[in-house]
Amino acid sequence: MDSIKIKDKRFRISIPEAEIKRRIKEMAGQISKDLEGKNPLFLGVLNGSFIFAADLMREMTIPCEISFVKLASYQGTTSTGKVTEVIGINENLSGRTVVIVEDIVESGTTMKRMIEQLGTRNPESVRICTLFFKPDKLKEDLNLDYVAFRIPDDFIVGYGLDYDQAGRELRDVYSIIEDKNKNMKNIVIFGAPGSGKGTQSDKMIEKYGLNHISTGDVLRAEIKNGTELGKTAKGYIDNGQLIPDDLMVSILASVYDSFGREHKGVIFDGFPRTIPQAEALKKMLDERGDKVAAMIELDVPEEELMKRLILRGQQSGRADDNEETIKKRLVVYHSQTQPLIEWYKKEGIHYHINGLGELDRIFADICAVIDGI
Ligand code: AP5
Ligand code: MG
Repeated sequence: MDSIKIKDKRFRISIPEAEIKRRIKEMAGQISKDLEGKNPLFLGVLNGSFIFAADLMREMTIPCEISFVKLASYQGTTSTGKVTEVIGINENLSGRTVVIVEDIVESGTTMKRMIEQLGTRNPESVRICTLFFKPDKLKEDLNLDYVAFRIPDDFIVGYGLDYDQAGRELRDVYSIIEDKNKNMKNIVIFGAPGSGKGTQSDKMIEKYGLNHISTGDVLRAEIKNGTELGKTAKGYIDNGQLIPDDLMVSILASVYDSFGREHKGVIFDGFPRTIPQAEALKKMLDERGDKVAAMIELDVPEEELMKRLILRGQQSGRADDNEETIKKRLVVYHSQTQPLIEWYKKEGIHYHINGLGELDRIFADICAVIDGI
């Protein structure tokens, strides 16, 4: 997926470097033509415009000068509230043609204030040159002389513009990927064989409208349909062993993507079962801008697990629900799967639930976790 992560947000390229350079060259050509013989003074507004100002100046074909200013914002003592002041102008502006070089103009309030302040220093004229302009946000009556790009009201970063001081070094300009799925609740329901993962998943699907991936069910369906994957899986399952990680991971991504991009969340039941699977799940979700919101562990004593599964074996005839295979599954659980509890604790999303007792009480505990995330 063609996206990058800066701090907690994801961004994708919206304007490539080559396109930016081409527009700057065009604009510098126009400014050079308009201000021929004026020896214009560029005033770059720090910090965002430093790369733009440098590239713009190198494309100029007439003599020009550059200086940089900063905007200082402070709480005023009058009812006007916040006051913005331009600091750092050391040049004599009297009679000069000044070009303010900005990275982005949004509401235009600071630009307006800047023009007012420069006006008191008797320049011949003040022009505005901005790399980006968000027409939808403009509140002031401003005449923008040179605009490289009119852009929609998305948050952008790169080519000097930052997200919380990060990302200025990026050569291309990136815009934020809106977190359409910020309410998405991906949940790992975790526990030993027979702990109630499938039983509680059914209730969660019904109450929260979540999607469900049970890797055990996926594999059993493959076995039933006699597919190649099913044939491979059968040997492992009947022996109480795990299917190799790479095979499980490849199945998982395609099932996850089959739910589309705007679902309410997915319950992962029986996955991950090993640390490599947990890492693969994290990576797969991260590439899509998603994450696991909670890992809910159903904790049930071993003799109860055995009792439940033997009973289920008698009723439903699941091939791995016989005493010998159940014992193997429990050994595999302790050695390969249980270490995930510590792994998810480190991730800070582990929730422990007593899985012994009434179904409804257990479900109420699960709901308390889900409602809190
Ligand atoms: P899988 O199908 O996931 O089986 P499992 O993890 O062994 O767990 P179960 O499905 O048996 O139990 P559950 O926790 O869902 O409990 P349930 O709600 O059914 O995996 C099967 C095999 O596939 C694995 O051994 C492996 O070979 C392979 N596999 C799957 N995923 C894999 C992966 N990611 N990587 C590699 N290999 C993989 O409840 C159990 C019984 O208890 C039911 O009869 C239920 O009615 C009853 N019950 C539930 N809650 C209660 C309660 N509170 N009180 C009394 N009874 C209850
Ligand atoms: Mg199950």
